[in-house]
Amino acid sequence: MWLQLGLWMLLNEATHARLLKFTNVKCLELPTNGGFCRYDYCRLKVVRRNHVELSLKVTLLELPVTNLTTRLQCFQRRDGYRPFLYNILFDFCKLMGARKYQLSFERFVFDTIRQHSNFNHTCPWTENYMMVDKFALDINKMNMPVPPGVYRLDFTFYAYGIARSLTQVYFEKLD
Ligand SMILES: *[C@@H]1O[C@H](CO)[C@@H](O)[C@H](O)[C@H]1NC(C)=O
Ligand SMILES: *[C@@H]1O[C@H](CO)[C@@H](O)[C@H](O)[C@H]1NC(C)=O
Repeated sequence: MWLQLGLWMLLNEATHARLLKFTNVKCLELPTNGGFCRYDYCRLKVVRRNHVELSLKVTLLELPVTNLTTRLQCFQRRDGYRPFLYNILFDFCKLMGARKYQLSFERFVFDTIRQHSNFNHTCPWTENYMMVDKFALDINKMNMPVPPGVYRLDFTFYAYGIARSLTQVYFEKLD
């Protein structure tokens, strides 16, 4: 799968894509949340034309967290949103903890967010929040390996095997 991703990146390099930006974000505490976490905010801010920043904060109410799993699923808009390319379930604690985590889509995504978040330490998670702060997509820094279009990336967080929250991030790529 990573090979496929790498190939897309190479192909895209040649097509001079011009724009990558967030268009919407939705944050949902799932019915199975069970008082585990609570979103404090979840929003986009248009800072200037084509520069849209994502900020969100979720408070964790049951510390420490020793077991976190994440599903990353990508959708492409074509008559509604259809599953596209990635649907990956991975051990979030392992990703956060490993210096040499395999090259993969999840690593690409979280490496990209890292500088604008507190996704920078491993489990047990003792900080009572997770946050993303003023994170903007930049096509010059991250050439998302996808054709032009509108996409949705779903982040589902599970703690102890139970789905707790869903963050849906919408973005658009123009060539
Ligand atoms: C993690 O990120 C937070 C928020 O940006 C920062 O305060 C903290 O120093 C960082 N910790 C590590 C281990 O990099
Ligand atoms: C996390 O918890 C679930 C449910 O109890 C379990 O199936 C899974 O193996 C745990 N993961 C780790 C890495 O311990």
